[in-house]
Amino acid sequence: MTAATPRTPVIAIDGPAASGKGTLARRIAATLGFDHMDSGALYRAVALTVLRNGTPPEDTAAAIAAARALDPARAAAMQSDPAIRSDTTGTAASVVSAVPEVRAALLDAQRNFAAHPPGGRGAVIDGRDIGTVISPDAVAKLFVTADPEIRARRRLGELQGQGVAAIFDDVLADMKERDRRDSQKAISPMVAAPDAFVLDTSRMSADEAFAAALSFVRRALDR
Ligand code: C5P
Repeated sequence: MTAATPRTPVIAIDGPAASGKGTLARRIAATLGFDHMDSGALYRAVALTVLRNGTPPEDTAAAIAAARALDPARAAAMQSDPAIRSDTTGTAASVVSAVPEVRAALLDAQRNFAAHPPGGRGAVIDGRDIGTVISPDAVAKLFVTADPEIRARRRLGELQGQGVAAIFDDVLADMKERDRRDSQKAISPMVAAPDAFVLDTSRMSADEAFAAALSFVRRALDR
């Protein structure tokens, strides 16, 4: 009998907007030599395509068509466009991502990456439903969160760093609205998996959050 090929480990990192999960995911992947996928970037690419076509993100048919036409090369190419990271695109992404057919169209790209990360060592994927839907058998699941006011303050700092004028109350209101939409989706809502390690970074520096996350991941990989 041939032994089954061991599966490469998957680390799932979920959490709300501006929780710091993307930064953590990138640092953990670089430290372990794993490949990183930002799943939100796929939803953002769909949203930006719809917006660029002059269509509102609420147009379900346009969102489905854009998701079905998105191939990995095109999604990757769109990441260098600064508009992909804007709050307008983020909000539009949270609208298109509530459409079941949009989620279905993006499923294979995420599951293929999880099963066959390009470097062959392991995958770190961040998003909203990685530990619950994309990789429910991930070896380590983190749910990274922080108080909305603190996330809004961090996001405001990022925007100001980019020279974008923004008002704290507006950033906070957008953040709360996106949280509400993401956690109340009929399918794949943002929720911590029951076996996820919940990391509240409200009172942590980026380095403290990284140390706590890495130590959890290393323990899970050693089990
Ligand atoms: O993480 P990011 O802010 O880039 O994600 C943009 C939006 O895409 C989120 O607000 C969420 O609505 C959606 N998303 C999702 N599932 C994921 C990743 C992102 O629904 N796995």
